[in-house]
Amino acid sequence: MDGSTDAASRHASEGAPRHVAVIMDGNGRWAEARGLPRAEGHRRGLEALRRTIAAADAAGIRFFTVYSFSSENWRRPTGEVSALLSLLRRFVRADTAEMHANNVRIRYIGSRDGLDHDIKALLAESEALTARNTGLTLVVAFNYGSRDEILRAAKSLVADAAAGRLAPEAVDEALFASRLDAGDVPDPDLVIRTSGEMRLSNFLLWQAAYSEFVFTPVWWPDFDGRHLEEALDEYRRRDRRFGGLSASGGRS
Ligand code: FPP
Repeated sequence: MDGSTDAASRHASEGAPRHVAVIMDGNGRWAEARGLPRAEGHRRGLEALRRTIAAADAAGIRFFTVYSFSSENWRRPTGEVSALLSLLRRFVRADTAEMHANNVRIRYIGSRDGLDHDIKALLAESEALTARNTGLTLVVAFNYGSRDEILRAAKSLVADAAAGRLAPEAVDEALFASRLDAGDVPDPDLVIRTSGEMRLSNFLLWQAAYSEFVFTPVWWPDFDGRHLEEALDEYRRRDRRFGGLSASGGRS
């Protein structure tokens, strides 16, 4: 999938955000609207994820992060949690080899504490296999909560300071960010949330400080490359100022 050297991909990537993150919302409502079990919505959500990864790569996006299971999702009924865990296993087992063949590097963010051993092993194997790939980096947020991630980063710094390995004055934004789960991945330029909801839901709170947001009413199982392109078009029309003035000189 690393098409960075061919002309078509260069054209596609013009003005494309480097890092896009997606809150894949609306699987349950998609299923309920059709009289189907919620698990079927998640299954169709996995298909949407597969086609959107391919579309993101074709669009020249370099980092693509998806929110697949939050640390709060354990509160859902047992059957739905099991369905989501099965989908994660299926995704990692069935798709890692193909993504590896397509030069995709896979990362997982979120806490691994308390996860089943087989899941921990699958995540580690999939990361290790694809670690040296140079194409799209896919970051899958699983058992992820941003406040938990920030707390774990803070604890690691406090532990280093308490052990005398780190001077408190040395803690700056860059050092803090490097202790987050994917500390080497740049901040998202664009965060997309599907299904019409307009909140962050404990996703990338630190990293999304200056991200652009696009909210679409489309339920995630219906999402495809056209919707991604619409979001990218919207992003290209935005004037990112990072707290300063616009490139044209005014605050616009
Ligand atoms: C939110 O929809 C979506 C989730 C909680 C799970 C997202 C999972 C997938 C897209 C597929 C699985 C992918 C992997 C890699 C495991 P919701 O259930 O909250 O929908 P609702 O708001 O309509 O109820």
